[in-house]
Amino acid sequence: MTFEELVHKRRSVRKYSDHPVAKEDLLKCLEAARLAPSGCNSQPWHFIVINEPELRKRVAARIFSGIYSMNKFAVEAPVLVAVVSEKEKFLTSFGGQIRDTSYCLVDIGIACEHLILQAQELGIGSCWIGWFDEKALKEELRIPKDKKIDIVLALGFSAEDKILPKTRKSLEEISSFNSYIPNKS
Ligand SMILES: Cc1cc2nc3c(=O)[nH]c(=O)nc-3n(C[C@H](O)[C@H](O)[C@H](O)COP(=O)(O)O)c2cc1C
Repeated sequence: MTFEELVHKRRSVRKYSDHPVAKEDLLKCLEAARLAPSGCNSQPWHFIVINEPELRKRVAARIFSGIYSMNKFAVEAPVLVAVVSEKEKFLTSFGGQIRDTSYCLVDIGIACEHLILQAQELGIGSCWIGWFDEKALKEELRIPKDKKIDIVLALGFSAEDKILPKTRKSLEEISSFNSYIPNKS
């Protein structure tokens, strides 16, 4: 599969089959994340793969309930990956404060997309999840309270029969050459 085909093919999967994801494939996905670039090469991430069925069910039931139940679909995903933010290098965090930028979030975004695209290449579907009960997740996995988890990734084989077209702004709306052209929409 070419890179062009890969990015066209990837979609958020919100209906999963119960087909398990092999550990070997999960390790390939983690390796893709490991190779991601980051500010000052800080690599400010830790990926917790939750694939033990009982634990996964318990965690998913808690973190996608109540006000987070719009993401209940992820209870069926055979794998969840909790992405913990780790300490950045001094220069990245200092520079980030001066620039009022979270380089850590940029770094995590890149690493997660590496992971997801590797999954896609292996035929494994995924969904980014930013809306979940972080406190419950930390309790379940005994992650220290001062840690931040901004993203959970759901992974698994798709059970969706219909593949919806991608809804995206046009290239003209989102890009320009040599000058800034405000988006009219
Ligand atoms: C940072 C981030 C957070 C997201 N959080 C959620 C979420 O909580 N629940 C969900 O169903 N989708 C979530 N998504 C998926 C987006 O809705 C999806 O990527 C977008 O609508 C484009 O659709 P596509 O992924 O199928 O191309 C999230 C995506 C990103 C990048």
